[in-house]
Amino acid sequence: MAKHAKLIAGNWKMNGALGANETLVRALLEGAANVACDVALCVPAPYFAQVQSLLTGSQLALGAQDISAHPHGAFTGEQSAAMLKEFGVRYAIVGHSERRQYHGETDEAVAAKAAAALANGITPIVCVGETLAQREAGQTEEVVKRQLAAVIHVNGHCISEIVVAYEPVWAIGTGKTAAPGQAQAVHAVLRAQLHHAASEHAAGVRILYGGSMNAANAAELLAQADIDGGLIGGASLKAPDFLQIIAAAA
Ligand code: PGA
Repeated sequence: MAKHAKLIAGNWKMNGALGANETLVRALLEGAANVACDVALCVPAPYFAQVQSLLTGSQLALGAQDISAHPHGAFTGEQSAAMLKEFGVRYAIVGHSERRQYHGETDEAVAAKAAAALANGITPIVCVGETLAQREAGQTEEVVKRQLAAVIHVNGHCISEIVVAYEPVWAIGTGKTAAPGQAQAVHAVLRAQLHHAASEHAAGVRILYGGSMNAANAAELLAQADIDGGLIGGASLKAPDFLQIIAAAA
């Protein structure tokens, strides 16, 4: 399968306000018109309608930060894939380390969320990554393979439709980025695992890097053979920084 364009996804996390969102999105629309890469903004659910309307007619896609594994019913606080679809959501982050850590999401729960997204035509951005303790114990490969294996197990038939994000937990929001070679080594492991599950389709699966990616380090990370884009937290809230990352990918 041919390589897709790179994907740069902003993860706003629990940040934003109506006024600030409008300023940020307008600056991105102006700076990223006709870019040669895919761009998604994963915004807090209360802002779906606002950002959907700002993005209408543009190349920038709307994304969510989570999705329910269930279609509807007694799941207080959750949002279903069908609800996301009504607001034009194209991507949903699943299994972000903050959700695994603070909301107890297991590998199985993450796999079920990816399945719910896929069943509704939403592309899941499946996050995997080791903690510092796991890296120091030499368990990086084992951890990320276990996390991805759960998703492959449930979604094997359409695994080529997912996006994977390798986000070492120790690099998220810490300013400590994985060295490009260090990130590439893990991406190659994930690519091989996808290849085993999806043979020729694996080459087309985008594997993003996330964890303190910024305007200064993006180009070198994005130049690695198996780094097909970025999942950007802090730097996605600043238009000039996010636009520079987009430019590095385009
Ligand atoms: P960061 O976050 O870019 O602020 O490190 C990345 C993420 O958590 O997706």
